[in-house]
This record gives sequence, C-alpha cells and structure tokens, in this order.
Amino acid sequence: MGNRAILLIIGGGIAAYKSLELIRHLRQRGYAVQPILTKAGTEFVTPLSVSALAGGKVFQDLFSLSDESEMGHIELSRSADLVVVAPATADLMAKLAAGHANDLASTALLATDKAVLMAPAMNLRMWNHATTQRNFALLQKDGILFVGPNDGEMACGEFGPGRMAEPGEIVAAIERMFDTLAGPLAGKTALVTAGPTREPLDPVRFISNRSSGKQGYAIAHALAQAGAATTLVSGPVERDAPSRVKLLRVETAREMLSACESVLPVDVAICTAAVADWRPEIATDQKLKRKKGSPPPVITLAENPDILAALSHARPRPALVVGFAAETENVVAYAREKRAAKGCDWIVANDVSTDTGTVGGESNRVHLLTADKVEDWPLLDKTEVARRLVARIAETLKARNA
Ligand code: CTP
Repeated sequence: MGNRAILLIIGGGIAAYKSLELIRHLRQRGYAVQPILTKAGTEFVTPLSVSALAGGKVFQDLFSLSDESEMGHIELSRSADLVVVAPATADLMAKLAAGHANDLASTALLATDKAVLMAPAMNLRMWNHATTQRNFALLQKDGILFVGPNDGEMACGEFGPGRMAEPGEIVAAIERMFDTLAGPLAGKTALVTAGPTREPLDPVRFISNRSSGKQGYAIAHALAQAGAATTLVSGPVERDAPSRVKLLRVETAREMLSACESVLPVDVAICTAAVADWRPEIATDQKLKRKKGSPPPVITLAENPDILAALSHARPRPALVVGFAAETENVVAYAREKRAAKGCDWIVANDVSTDTGTVGGESNRVHLLTADKVEDWPLLDKTEVARRLVARIAETLKARNA
C-alpha cells in the first residue's frame, strides 16, 4: 500500500538496528518514512544510516530552530498517517503513559491525532516490572496498539519476553492498521453490550444466567476490524478484550447502564447482553445465614433498567440501535413486538430453545428484523453472524450519509 506516511520513532535500545531493516521493508512497500531518533537511539544507530535508508531528514531535537521553522513538532506528528515507535523502550512507554513531553519523541507522541503502534523492546525484567506492565495496560486502555514483544534470548543473555517483534511482524501490524483505517466504519463510534449481568443477593451469592458473551465479543471484534472506535461493555465472562476494542467490565445491570451512558454519544449501539431483568431488591452486606427452624428467606425482586430501551431513547440517539431477542418460541413475532416496545431500529432474533445449542454454543441461526422486512439467515458461526451484521451496519450508515 503506497503513498502512506509513517512517523517512525526510534528509541534507545539494542533492537534499534532492526528499525533500519524496518525502514527498508516499509520503503520497499511504498510507504514514506519520517524518522525521529531519540538521543538514546543515537547510541545504537547513527542518524546518517537512518536518513540514508529513510531517504530524507532525521529529526532529533525538539528545540532545533531550523526543524521548528521547517516543520513544527505538532505538524510533524500529524502529517503522518500513522505513528510507529520501534523500539519502544520502557522509558518511552512510561513517558507517554504519564504524559511527559520533554523531548521531540515524547512531544510528538502527545501531540499526535493519529493511531500509534508501539513495538516494545527491553530486558525481560524491565518488561515484567509492575511499573512497565501498569504503563502497558494504561497505554492499551488509551488506544495505543502493540506488536510484540516476543519471547526469546535477549542481548543480555537472559531468556523471556522483551525481544522486539521482527520487522516483518511490525510491517504486518502496520498493514492491518491501515486496513482498519480504511475500513467501512472508519471514523464511526460503536458501543456493544455483552455477557450476563450478576445481581448480588449477598456478598457471595448472585442471580445470573448462562450467557457466554461470545456473540457480543465477536461483534465488537468485527466492528473494530471494520474501523469503528469500539467500546465493549461486558458482564463477567472469561474472555480477553478483542484487539482494538476498549473493554469496560461491569457486574450489575445498573453498572452496565452507567458504563454505556459514559460512552455516549455513539454512532451505533448493539445490545447483545443477557441483562438480568430483575435484581434482588435488597443485597445484604453480610452473608445470609441459614437458621435452624427458620423458613428460607423470601427474595423480593426489583426491576432492572432496560439498557436497550435507554439507548434507543438517548439524546443524541445513536444513528442505529440494534437489539437481540432471545426467544424459545414464536421467535419472529415476539422479536417484532420487542422491536416496537424497546424503540430500537433492528432486532437480531435467535432461537435459544435448549435443542438449538445457541446459548454458549459456536453457531447461531438468526432473523434480522428491520423496519420493513425480516431476513432469515442460515445457521452460521457466531463470528460470521458478527461479520454479516457489521457489513449490514456499514451499508446502512453509508446509504444514510449518501
Ligand atoms: N436488554 C437490555 N436491558 C435489559 C433487558 C434486555 O438492554 N434490562 C436487551 C438485550 O441486550 C437484548 C434485548 O434487550 O438486546 C432483548 O432482551 P431479551 O432478554 O430477549 O428480552 P426481554 O426484554 O428480557 O424480554 P422478555 O423477557 O419478555 O423476552
């Protein structure tokens, strides 16, 4: 993919020599590479070799007058289509996580409005250090993408995680990012709810259900792949965040609603969560005790908020609100009623009677109900249902914007 510009920040690490190879690979593929070499980076590679491979000037100094007059650091950070940090040292990660801007590299990272990909490289103890891991988690939460580090033998002779990803892997990650940036939902925001909710009865007991979250996680993944900035609000399931998806973990329906509200406004909202309709009216602070001779406790239930209905009536309202209907009989008829009752645009209706194996299973047979029609989809893997649904969403938003 040619004519794309990459701002490449080369940090000070032994892996910096691989960045020279990276520049070569990128230029062979037609990318323009604008390098920034940190002061520590110059200990490992020379500005001359970097500029020779990049075919242009290397920026090094925040306060260099000529650079500032030719191209301010703000402009430098924004003129590229993508920012890549390779090697991303523990120091560069820490600086960005903390918001420092005391040299050209950290200033460009803070000033950019473009996607940032980091390829960490450091000693394995530095990588495993609680501080680096905290910074790593923070940066991921802020939307920074990572490739590597890989396991392997380090320059210092130790073995473990910390080796910078190979140039080929970094190029592949860059190309995936560009695919996303050019995806049909690039520039759109999406919100997905998934999983069950857990409604406490006392500190150790709760009411919940068997939702696995699989369909919702697959949809969040497909939305992110299509380029949407995606937030997934998930009840308790044992799943990792899909790549490029911001994951907010919640337990109760009320927490799920407020997490969703914190994400608004969005262009698309998709509610796949199996929200518990009711919660115990009182969740006791202390564990309920069984008393000999006493009758079992009576649990009074209170209604939970309806998140799909709330999002369907939010102001500003998402351009498209999609609900799921889990039914065991009269699937389409009940789903039609549900669409009207909740005020959403589409309902994806599925049959969850136990013989279908949908709940917790790999596949799903769904019917897509829109304002004017019902589409019966064949039995599909949940990832394929997600992919098709996202393709339909992209088509619809495009048609509306046209
Ligand atoms: N939903 C929601 N908040 C709730 C209940 C449901 O956001 N408190 C959403 C689900 O995520 C799903 C849709 O509403 O997208 C339908 O959920 P379902 O459980 O099938 O329907 P109910 O509203 O519970 O209706 P019923 O129990 O009558 O089937």
